[in-house]
Amino acid sequence: MPADNHPDLEKIVISKDALKARVRALGREISRDFTGRKPIFVGVLRGCALFLSDLLQNVTVDCSLDFICPSSYEGGMKSTGVVRLLLDLRESIENRDVIIVEDIVDSGLTMNYLLSNLGTRRPRSITVCALLDKPSCRKAEVPIRYLGFTLDDEFVVGYGLDYKELYRNLPYIGVLKKSRI
Ligand code: IMP
Repeated sequence: MPADNHPDLEKIVISKDALKARVRALGREISRDFTGRKPIFVGVLRGCALFLSDLLQNVTVDCSLDFICPSSYEGGMKSTGVVRLLLDLRESIENRDVIIVEDIVDSGLTMNYLLSNLGTRRPRSITVCALLDKPSCRKAEVPIRYLGFTLDDEFVVGYGLDYKELYRNLPYIGVLKKSRI
């Protein structure tokens, strides 16, 4: 697909329409599976912002929302492997059905850390919902129950994902030109 939009992109890998359709389907699937359970969605800042917003608009069960912010990329393209929390949940998740909403699972180190950290807080269940998966980069196994798309090992931006804090606002997902990195 040609990148006829942002000039820094080499190509678009997931169009706005494809994102919309897939996120709608994920919202419906989650709603069906969590009927009567009042789950708490935990958005992983900051990459989840656009995905979470669209996802929740397609969730029809009663639910609540909280956020967590881990750090490991420090603005670059590869995980440092050291994860720490920059912002923690406001709510207790004890006895709650937690749905972690993440933009992308790459090495899996961030999600692995979140699962063990949140797991110590005695939730009833923890489920992972990720928009994107790059399985070829995995260093820690992560059970992704709801997944939008699987990608090759390419660094992508847009729809919440950034490179040095830019491009989060693009309504599609694309690969940067080599000259921009
Ligand atoms: P992991 O710990 O390597 O799985 O990385 C998870 C986090 O790294 C994600 O939440 C993203 O913020 C960031 N990340 C991983 N791959 C990409 C990418 O291709 N584009 C933008 N951010 C990425």
